[in-house]
Amino acid sequence: MKLSHKPVMLNEVIKYLQPKRGDIIVDCTVGAGGHSYEIAKLILPEGKLIGIDQDREVLNLAQERLRDFKNCTLVHQNFRDINFVLQDLGIAKVDGLLFDLGLSSFQLDDPQRGFSFRSSGYLDMRMDRENSVTAFDLLNNLTSEELEKIFRQYSQERYARRVASAIMRARQEQVIETTIQLANIVKKAIPRRGAIHPATRVFQALRIAVNQELENLSAVLSKAINFLKPKGKICVLSFHSGEDRIVKNEFKKFFQSKTLHLLTKKPIISSKKEISDNPRARSAKLRIGEKI
Ligand SMILES: C[S@@+](CC[C@H](N)C(=O)[O-])C[C@H]1O[C@@H](n2cnc3c(N)ncnc32)[C@H](O)[C@@H]1O
Repeated sequence: MKLSHKPVMLNEVIKYLQPKRGDIIVDCTVGAGGHSYEIAKLILPEGKLIGIDQDREVLNLAQERLRDFKNCTLVHQNFRDINFVLQDLGIAKVDGLLFDLGLSSFQLDDPQRGFSFRSSGYLDMRMDRENSVTAFDLLNNLTSEELEKIFRQYSQERYARRVASAIMRARQEQVIETTIQLANIVKKAIPRRGAIHPATRVFQALRIAVNQELENLSAVLSKAINFLKPKGKICVLSFHSGEDRIVKNEFKKFFQSKTLHLLTKKPIISSKKEISDNPRARSAKLRIGEKI
């Protein structure tokens, strides 16, 4: 697999996180270690870098990328359990937290993971392959109403009902097993608008459901903020409106309880240059809070 994941808004993350020698920073979505590598250079060897990811394969890439650094601990865990991770490591407070949500390019580009319909693959979509429920399970077992709700709620698909009905019809003929099979069902069910393939939103919604992405994000933010030292920073990069809404509302609660300064009243977005170099940056929003 080639190393092609470009960290989004790297300069902005470093500027606001302000990692200094000796700091303890938790990268809650270490991925292949793109952001972590730059943070590690600034805080180690006196500091500590903890990298969490729920995907073992991606974590191996981070291990490789960060192998020359001492005091760098990588943990296979869902970030919603950050409290257990830090307790196990004997860490009570940290200087900074980073969340770069969603998928890395390695996950997206690997046909066997089933996240993309660019090539054919089994409809898996689990970031953590030790979890039991796959996209295949949802697609072939949920009711039409349940599928419709997923498409509507997680990607605002305006043809959610139509897609769900088409899936039910296709299911009566054969199980829906591959990414291409699903993409073709969606393509036939709804009209193409603009340059984006009609299956894009359906794939996004399924992935969010399989990995319970919004539930995990809602569960982790308040736990994580409680671990910050005064003046410690939390940086969250989100990639769709459902995620950004959760971050915005959670930060607001902590602002109202005088626990967090909001360093970004409005989220920061990527520069035109970054978007042209890295299409993944197109929908990115960065919010930063500072513990009071
Ligand atoms: C966008 S990538 C991170 C890329 C990384 N910042 C870099 O520059 O290489 C997001 C990563 O977060 C992981 N992830 C997503 N949700 C997670 C969760 N709830 N717990 C732990 N890891 C998660 C994914 O497996 C993926 O590797």
